[in-house]
Parts: sequence; structure tokens; C-alpha cells
Amino acid sequence: MKKNNKKFETNAVRSGTERSQFGEHSEGLFLTSSFVFKNAQEAARRFSGDDPGYVYSRFTNPSVNMFEERLAALEGAEQCIATSSGMSAILATFMALCKPGDHVIVSKSIFGTSVQLFNNFLSKWGLDISFVNLSDLASWKNSIKKNTKLFFVETPSNPLTEIVDISKLAELAKFAKAKLIVDNCFCTPALQLPLKLGADIIIHSATKYLDGQGRCLGGAVLGKRNVMSEIFTFLRNTGVSLSPFNAWIFLKGLETLKIRMEQQSSNALALALYLEKNKNISKVYYPGLKSHSQYSIAKKQQSLGGAVLSFSLKGGKKEAWSLINKTRMLSITANLGDTKSTITHPATTTHSRLTQAERDESGISDSLIRIAVGLENVNDIITDLKL
Ligand SMILES: Cc1ncc(COP(=O)(O)O)c(C=O)c1O
Repeated sequence: MKKNNKKFETNAVRSGTERSQFGEHSEGLFLTSSFVFKNAQEAARRFSGDDPGYVYSRFTNPSVNMFEERLAALEGAEQCIATSSGMSAILATFMALCKPGDHVIVSKSIFGTSVQLFNNFLSKWGLDISFVNLSDLASWKNSIKKNTKLFFVETPSNPLTEIVDISKLAELAKFAKAKLIVDNCFCTPALQLPLKLGADIIIHSATKYLDGQGRCLGGAVLGKRNVMSEIFTFLRNTGVSLSPFNAWIFLKGLETLKIRMEQQSSNALALALYLEKNKNISKVYYPGLKSHSQYSIAKKQQSLGGAVLSFSLKGGKKEAWSLINKTRMLSITANLGDTKSTITHPATTTHSRLTQAERDESGISDSLIRIAVGLENVNDIITDLKL
């Protein structure tokens, strides 16, 4: 990333743009698997790395590079590496930075598929994993071992919007000589800058708010150049690379990220305040509510509450499914980060592959519903919920 003093909004629309000889104004979409060299000498220099030009789109590609540079500018990172999905960003980071036998500490409050990746694959590969409660700093400290390499959190977490104090956890990671990884999917750099707060690495599912319109799968890892080089080698050799088409979509998505995040957060807060007063609801989980158990931390490290909220209905699965089935406008889908509001029942969708004990441990009850609030008028969302 080239150092620049531009503000977020400017970087979101301008950073990373690489113009071809045609002088296109909108960024180009480079659908090419490989790149042509002037001669054999240039080919050899590209392959050896002496010439920094493009080689093959498994390594990188101009459209992918523009997306990487723009996201790096927004997160304040030295380097960004784009991946084929959020899950491959997590996989690449752990496989590149750890070896079998290393120890990592992982928050219990993470996306269900991330739990599956740790429990069914990274543990089989020989990673020693301790799961701890996200906001319980004493547990993080007590779990540190001599060979602890990485800390991994989502904050706010999916779906309960639990929060950890990133600065305090970063201090603990430093004490453990480990690196702190933050999955910044829910806030995005528009609302939260984990690297500024002391984190070492950021993970994104670009599939969510970076795209913003539910079109493409993708991911990203961001951090210091020396850390990223290992991850780049992993990507280059395993092919967890982002398609240029998807990168181009995300590049355009970043242009409107801030205004979407601000409006969707404002809608989410209005909906959360409404739900909190409803007699059929026992609890609302949203970091922008004063009743949220970590409201003061959220206020300190996030500029707004974000667009995802969850709530527990009085009753159980029957009542939760009935509410979901009565909606006509909200999209019943497990994705989030879209301009269209989505509604899901985490216990039987995103977190259904966890055991009952794991769900209980993470607080994912049968009465829990998650809404990722979009850009519709919030009164239409409230009407559609028929509470
Ligand atoms: C917080 C979080 N991280 C990572 C992922 C995985 O991203 P992807 O679906 O792009 O692989 C998700 C997906 O929902 C998520 O919610």
C-alpha cells in the first residue's frame, strides 16, 4: 500500500486504481488466466520476482490487485491478500503461520463453519486449539502456552454480537508473543479499525458487506508485509485465489461501503430499539443498545453498532420458525451483508452442524433469530415481522 493522507471516503473510491493504456475511467475487469511477456528474459525475471509484473492469475491479477490495494488503504494495512472466500482466508492464515503442534487460542463465539474448520480439519492436521469465552480476558491469559502462536476472534461475533476489547486482547497477545487475528466481517473498516487498536491481522469474508449486495464469494487477509509473505506463498501454491470478476465486484462495492454501513447501522438501531420494547421478545443482542453487556467497549472501538442484530423470542424453535415463516418481504437466507434484509434461525442453519453442547456453550438457543438489516425503510421491516 502506498502511504497516503486521504480520508476514508476518498480512498474507498480512488485508492488502488490502476489504469491500462486505454485510459478507462471505471476500473478494468481483467479476465485473463495468464500474462504475456515481451521475451524469454522478461518471463524469467517475472518468475524470479526480479520484475514485479503479473505472471498468472493464481498469484495475482490487476483487478484483484486493485481490490487488495483499496481494502489495504481502508484498513490501514501494509498489505492485503485476496482469497476465494472468507473460509479460505482463515484456512490460509492458520496453515501459513502455524505448523503441526503449535497452539492457538480461539473465541467460542465464532461463525459455525469456522468452528468446523478448527475442530474437524486444523486439529486433525495437528494444531492444538483452546476455545475460550470471547470477552473473558482472564481465560485468554490462563490459556496461553509457550507455543501459542495465534489468537482468533470475531468482534462483534456472529450471531450474538458479543464484543471483546481489542486493545486489551492485543496487549495479552503481545505478552504471549502471539499474533491477534480479528475477523472484521461485521463492522468492516467503515466502523472499526482493528490494526489501529493493536491487532496484527485482519480477516474478511468479502462475501458480506464489502460486496454489500449478495453477489460473490471472496475473502481477504490483511497485515504487515512480513506476515503476509507466508500467506502469499500459501495462496500461490494452493490456489485459494480470488477470481478477477469477484474482485471487480468487491472493488465497486467498497465505493459505497461507508454510506451503506452507516444507513444499515441506523436501521438496525431503530429496529433493535423497537424489538426491545416488544412483549414477545425476551432479549435483544445489538452493540448499539445501552442494554448490551459490552456497550461501553463497543462505543469505544466501533463508530456505530453495525447492521446485524439477534433476538430471543419467548418460546422455542416453534415460535422462532413461525415468526420467520410469517414474513413476506425479509429474505429467509443465511447470508448477511446485503442491502436486502435477511432473517435466519442460527440453531438450524449457520450453527446447525455444532453439537447441542457446543450451541449451548455459545448461547445459540432454539428461540434465537438473527436479522442482518438492509437498506429498506425500517418501518417496512417492522411491519413485515408482524410481532
Ligand atoms: C464472521 C464470518 N467470518 C467468515 C465467514 C465465512 O465467509 P465465506 O462464506 O465468504 O467463506 C462468515 C460467513 O458467513 C462469517 O459470518
